Amino acid sequence: MIAKSGLKTASFVSTVIAALAIGAFASHAKPADPMPQLRRDHGATQLIVGGAPFLIRGGELENSTASSPAYLDTVWPKLVAMHLNTVIAPVYWQLIEPREGSFDFATVDGLIAGARRHDMHLVLLWFGSWKNSMSSYAPGWIKRDPQRFPRAEGSDGAGMEILSAFSRNNLQADSGAFVALMKHLRDIDSARHTVIMVQVENEVGMIPEARDHSAAADAAFAAPVPAALTDYLTGHKNTLAPALKAAWQAHGFKTGADWDDTFGAGPATEELFTAWTEGRYTGAVAAAGKAVYPLPMYVNAALMRPGKAPGQYPSGGPLPHLFDIWRAAAPAIDFFAPDLYFPNFVEWADKYAQPGAPFFIPEAGRVSAADMGADAFYAYGELNAMGFSPYAPEFLAPDQTKTMGEAYDAVAQLAPLILANQGTGKMMGVSAPAQFDGTVDLSPQYFAFGDYTITAHFQEPAPISIGAKAETAMPGAHGGLIIQTGPDDFWIAGTGMIVTFGVRSGTKVKAGIDAIREGRFAHGRWVPGRNLNGDDDNQGRYLRLPAGEFTIREVRLYRYR
Ligand code: DGJ
Repeated sequence: MIAKSGLKTASFVSTVIAALAIGAFASHAKPADPMPQLRRDHGATQLIVGGAPFLIRGGELENSTASSPAYLDTVWPKLVAMHLNTVIAPVYWQLIEPREGSFDFATVDGLIAGARRHDMHLVLLWFGSWKNSMSSYAPGWIKRDPQRFPRAEGSDGAGMEILSAFSRNNLQADSGAFVALMKHLRDIDSARHTVIMVQVENEVGMIPEARDHSAAADAAFAAPVPAALTDYLTGHKNTLAPALKAAWQAHGFKTGADWDDTFGAGPATEELFTAWTEGRYTGAVAAAGKAVYPLPMYVNAALMRPGKAPGQYPSGGPLPHLFDIWRAAAPAIDFFAPDLYFPNFVEWADKYAQPGAPFFIPEAGRVSAADMGADAFYAYGELNAMGFSPYAPEFLAPDQTKTMGEAYDAVAQLAPLILANQGTGKMMGVSAPAQFDGTVDLSPQYFAFGDYTITAHFQEPAPISIGAKAETAMPGAHGGLIIQTGPDDFWIAGTGMIVTFGVRSGTKVKAGIDAIREGRFAHGRWVPGRNLNGDDDNQGRYLRLPAGEFTIREVRLYRYR
């Protein structure tokens, strides 16, 4: 069992990492091109692949798809047709280590071979100790031996299908398999870097109670909060999440006391405890893997519905109110990523996209493909996302596949411009934000680019020619991005928007449309199509990005009075 004090836990974790990493570098061939890495530049953190910034147009395979190379072969053409450049795919502990210490990487090799054949990259998901809180992907030899590999327990003392974070054996077994995976990747992929990033575990968290109640967990909960955590919290007191700070402050910023005494008794404190203990475990697995092959690594979070208390949702994962705990617990994890299925996409995305920090959405869904496309534009354009990824793209209906493909086609064309402008202030994303219940705010939105103002409308003005006065709805999704490339020059792309232009300085000066061109980027070069004027810009009054499609427009403005 893991010792109760933080200091002992820390030395135990580092012993495991050191033991697993010993000898790891001895046979390490020098990589042919630089490791994929995160780099902060011009105000944004980007994923660098092959030495250059890379924008992930992702899709996360449904959980079982990658378990059969033959089945997967039937899926690749659909992913290619959707213009994905990266597939996010699980590696299943139960399949790669069917017998203890005996590894079979056939599924991983099949994935990598398939990705290479289709000119794609991979982000691998480590389905290790925890997948959606549960331990269903642990191998049978682990599941069948709870004496050696203990389970978390409910407060009624019953074992759960969740490996306990308080077991040295569990951590060693998981880390050992993860290190074997990372060594395998190093051996077969370090010259090519098909695999560009790794997610460690999947949607970590405890449910239906906010913490493990096994004897080991109870003992750790009754012991002092580890100094490693309180030291971190002390050092970051001014920036702590408000609820965490308030709970700690209410108890006098205590150190050296037990969990209830430090943060107050109740489910919220139990969740802090789970975040720390599962965070330590996950961080130790990540550190062990990074020691042999240092790909960027992240942890994903299951978000919670409004009004739910800890224990009613997977508790203790890297949720915004627990970021501080996870940062202290798992420094080997580069960032936390939201699985963003709720309609209030903008609200949640904004919480995870901290200024200058890495931002990636590994799972999106349960909204239309048009909404996902619009959300992707907002994420890349406004929040400097390194990537976006619908869940189970292989299961989308044909019309949804087509729409998502059109969105990603436009993103692919714009990728060099997006990457060059992330973080610079010359690019902004547009979205009509929705609430959790799906109500969409269709109010116009205003953007300032130098002296120009740009207004995005999500309703269509009445055409003057028919004498109508009321705006009409633009059905479908609304979103896009605006990039300024010269004093009067813009790229405006997306769906479901009417865009008008103005000038900030001087009441008599106005902005006019010099020209709008449709077109496509082919191999990075703009190939203009029609000049859109007359009925197509309402005689110079506005730019229209039609609903139901994703379009790119080259826009040149001018000023007059
Ligand atoms: C979130 C999980 O991370 C995925 O693996 C998958 O189970 C989806 N939920 C299903 O909606």
